[in-house]
Amino acid sequence: MTTIDLNAAAREILKANGRGGYTVPNGRVYPFQWNWDSAFVALGFDTFDRPRAWTEVETLFRAQWDDGFLPHIVFWKDDPGYFPGASVWATGKEPVTSGITQPPVAATVVRKLWKSAAEADEADHYRPRLEALFPKLFAWHRWFAAYRDPDRRGVVVATHPWETGRDNSPEWDVPSEVIDVSNVGDYVRRDTSHLDSKMRPTKLEYDRYLALVQFGRATGWDHARIAAENPFRVADVGMSMILLRANRDLAALAEELGRSEESEEIRGWIQLAERGIDWLWHDELSAWCSRDTLTGRFSGHITSASFLSFYAGLADAGRDAATRAHFDRIAGLVDYLMPSLDPADPGFQMIRYWRGPVWAVVNYMIGTGLAEADDRERAEKVRQDTLELMRRNGFYEAYSPVDGTGSGGDDFSWTAAIWLTWAKGI
Ligand code: DGY
Repeated sequence: MTTIDLNAAAREILKANGRGGYTVPNGRVYPFQWNWDSAFVALGFDTFDRPRAWTEVETLFRAQWDDGFLPHIVFWKDDPGYFPGASVWATGKEPVTSGITQPPVAATVVRKLWKSAAEADEADHYRPRLEALFPKLFAWHRWFAAYRDPDRRGVVVATHPWETGRDNSPEWDVPSEVIDVSNVGDYVRRDTSHLDSKMRPTKLEYDRYLALVQFGRATGWDHARIAAENPFRVADVGMSMILLRANRDLAALAEELGRSEESEEIRGWIQLAERGIDWLWHDELSAWCSRDTLTGRFSGHITSASFLSFYAGLADAGRDAATRAHFDRIAGLVDYLMPSLDPADPGFQMIRYWRGPVWAVVNYMIGTGLAEADDRERAEKVRQDTLELMRRNGFYEAYSPVDGTGSGGDDFSWTAAIWLTWAKGI
């Protein structure tokens, strides 16, 4: 397909997956509103329908809880095609939501929407919408500081693999071993009736996911108790980098709006993270990786999240050089960057979800960070690989880094959005 055809196809996907104010990632596999999916989708809409881009984020924040928490799924309408649905989460909220969150990309996206509105001379028109969104973003980030970093380490402690967005990354394998699955009971998965089970997490992983949902539900989704007692508490390198970046963007928005008190508080979070994130640097591997807060043990896996340090705005000559060396080594092992797991890792599986496949949104963040760090060559390599995957295969949920085949759902909203906002270039 030509670029013009692909532009039209990507827009069509976003429109067709629209459900009136929000967009589903894929109508069959994921028929609700997902948190970080919607944020990336807004970037896609912003290339051809600015008001709709803002609405996507505003709709998501309509599901925010009073304590600032922003759920990872909003079940606006019932749909039997997904498990675990609203009744399994049983959060008792209106609208019905899940009880865990997802990587906080929204502040970074809103800053980008704001910049694009200002460049189009529409700042006056969008300022009230920005004014309305800012306190919600701020409340969510404050919630992260309180409930996902209770020991003030400067990292994000995920309480569920789904929270990280990288559901079945091998980074969670060892920390998940302590999850008791003996009372999970029988359940019927829906994901494997839509997709080949080779592309999805295993039964043991699903048992663990559900055991953690049951744990949260038993606490009445009390986030303080979950932060203190949850059996899975892993400092996720991906979320930690993403929140650090998002806090920098939120601070810029605070300054834009003259919110000095909030700006000062955000600066405090940034300083804490800039120091605390050191805890996630693995000297022997010479790489960034996640770490179990309950045991102190590193995951020991190099993943696509290991390359988000540039996006987070971290700069350290030695670590950056080591990260670039891993980038170049991996580029020599696969045809398409960036695999979600190092292909040299014995657990690498080219089509199984977050154990190998390339994800366009992660490439976007890696490429953006590299470009900002003035590493034009590597930034362009990631972008070109992403473009090529989409040009050859269409807009899949993810792709094999080895041969480029699509993996997971097709006509995927955030992949189409990344085409429009970044992969296709200018
Ligand atoms: C799923 O159901 O696979 C989702 O990733 C959970 O958020």
